[in-house]
Amino acid sequence: MTYPYQIKSLEAYHKAYKDSIENPSDFWAAIAENFVWKKKWDKTLEWNFEEPKVEWFAGGKLNITENCLDRHIDTLGNKPAIIWEPNDPKDSSVILTYKELLFKVKQFANVLKNNGVNKGDRVCIYMGMVPELAIAVLACARIGAIHSVIFGGFSAQSISDRLIDAQAEFIITCDGAHRGNKIIPLKSVVDDALINCPFVKKVIVCTRTHTAISMIKGRDLWWKEEIKKIDAIGNPDYPAEEMDAEDILFILYTSGSTGKPKGVVHTAAGYMVWANYTFVNVFQYQQGQVHFCTADIGWITGHSYIIYGPLSAGATTLMFEGIPTWPDAGRFWEIVDKHKVDILYTAPTAIRSLMSCGMEFLKDKDLKSLKVLGSVGEPINEEAWQWYYKNIGKQKCPIVDTWWQTETGGIMISNMAGVTPQKSTFTTLPLPGIEPLLVDENGTELLGNNVSGNLCIKKPWPGIIRTTYGDHERCRTVYFATYKNLYFTGDGCLRDEEGNYRITGRVDDVLNVSGHRIGTAELENAINMHSGVIESAIVGFPHDIKGQGIYAYIIFDKMHEDANLTRQDIIQTVSRNIGAIAKPDKIQFVSGLPKTRSGKIMRRILRKIAEGETENLGDLSTLLDPNIVSEIIEGAL
Ligand code: PRX
Repeated sequence: MTYPYQIKSLEAYHKAYKDSIENPSDFWAAIAENFVWKKKWDKTLEWNFEEPKVEWFAGGKLNITENCLDRHIDTLGNKPAIIWEPNDPKDSSVILTYKELLFKVKQFANVLKNNGVNKGDRVCIYMGMVPELAIAVLACARIGAIHSVIFGGFSAQSISDRLIDAQAEFIITCDGAHRGNKIIPLKSVVDDALINCPFVKKVIVCTRTHTAISMIKGRDLWWKEEIKKIDAIGNPDYPAEEMDAEDILFILYTSGSTGKPKGVVHTAAGYMVWANYTFVNVFQYQQGQVHFCTADIGWITGHSYIIYGPLSAGATTLMFEGIPTWPDAGRFWEIVDKHKVDILYTAPTAIRSLMSCGMEFLKDKDLKSLKVLGSVGEPINEEAWQWYYKNIGKQKCPIVDTWWQTETGGIMISNMAGVTPQKSTFTTLPLPGIEPLLVDENGTELLGNNVSGNLCIKKPWPGIIRTTYGDHERCRTVYFATYKNLYFTGDGCLRDEEGNYRITGRVDDVLNVSGHRIGTAELENAINMHSGVIESAIVGFPHDIKGQGIYAYIIFDKMHEDANLTRQDIIQTVSRNIGAIAKPDKIQFVSGLPKTRSGKIMRRILRKIAEGETENLGDLSTLLDPNIVSEIIEGAL
């Protein structure tokens, strides 16, 4: 079987889709021929969802960095691999060509080796969006170390939880990070995290903000000094380590419905194939284009569509250090204009926030270079879709609404720019290899069109989660046990009369706040750490900019005289335990929570009250104390 790698017509999409479902092994074997292998695989696919066990390209040997860097050197060596746009627009941007990036990755791979990092070791990366972050990620992949990138907004407690879970002995960080007019003291947060983690051997610190930091002898090292040591030896070559197709490439922690974040594991070959295939097809990437994904590399979107997808395709990827609203709300448009961006991939929350700032920030910005727009992370509402389409894409650029998850490694359901039809607020059709299925709560498949239910996927695709690090049983119960022989996404979804899919939001206890996943149980645990809190319940409520806001109902012991101060204390407690991204938007103190006789909190009622509903609260007869509901309604914010 041979396939054109890039699907260029609706007809070709239908053919590829059909073949991929009828004959997945042949289909993906043909796709995988487009990569550099040190040794070809023996078996394309081996799987069962009971354990679960999924192996793609077993027996194959490769290194993803050869696919992202080495293989482009002859043809694209002097072309920009990374354009780095600093936080402050007055500072100059940096361009790294493919040759320069490969050089730096090899150099830093040597630094890691020199400091005792070996294949299979876990390396935690906690940095701002500087080019060294991409270099660190790729250098880990080069030597076969497993990277675990932690978003710079997480707290010391979150870092130490993740370090302990992964038993990571190495950390790469920065002195600080610029975000708008703020400096985030990254190294100091790491120092706090390390109080609980004596097993950490080395911390490599990259200089960015020149803030004063503590450096511990024997443990903490300067990035620059370590590079000098390598340069002194001479040629910093570093042949790419041979990896098994199913060796772990990275761990990325994400929140779920239980209290503790889980380490989603992706492996070398399948992830690479999926990140590349989806990048090339969904965005319809053309050689020489500049791709600007506005996510942070601390999230899966940054892994797949700032680093691995674009670089494996030989694209120019734009890394932006700052935030969309600083120095003003025209920053994205200025970047598009300045670097002649072809593909812009961002989140509905950013679109809504920029839309609310008004049109003046678009004045004098030339957006003609744009060809394709993308949306990710949460459902995009009609108004934001139309604004994006008209004002940014000037009604000429298709919008790809890409549905996927940390666990899926890459885009799963999306239109392909200009190739398959778009439909506002719908993610439309599944990519080749993806068989979506809607089920009711009993697990019965909902057949036909015009139905809505829980979204599951029938068979494995190359980028599927392999395990949750150190706890395979957890992976099984969370994703593969709810419905027999299906991967359960946790999302609700409807299928319209033409078979287009529209994601309606999470059906589990996970909130999506500004495109970030926050587990309500994790948040409740953090709030309950406050000495005065007896019990809490978190629900989401509709928020104009964030999509969902966080509403906390809290039973508090001995109220402070000043309720606002107590609220601030609780917010501080959350920031300390998780990070500022999880701060509640509303805190209501209550004397009790609506519970069933068996002690279960009736979140459905709390959710309705948070949404402003005071009647139609459903059946309250099963409540232990129905009076509590009227008290909560009276005090609602
Ligand atoms: O609820 C879905 C929502 O984001 C969740 C995945 O979050 P995370 O693993 O953090 O990855 C975000 C970036 C891929 C999903 O379960 N979601 C993601 N994309 C969309 C979406 N909801 C609606 N439309 C989307 N395009």
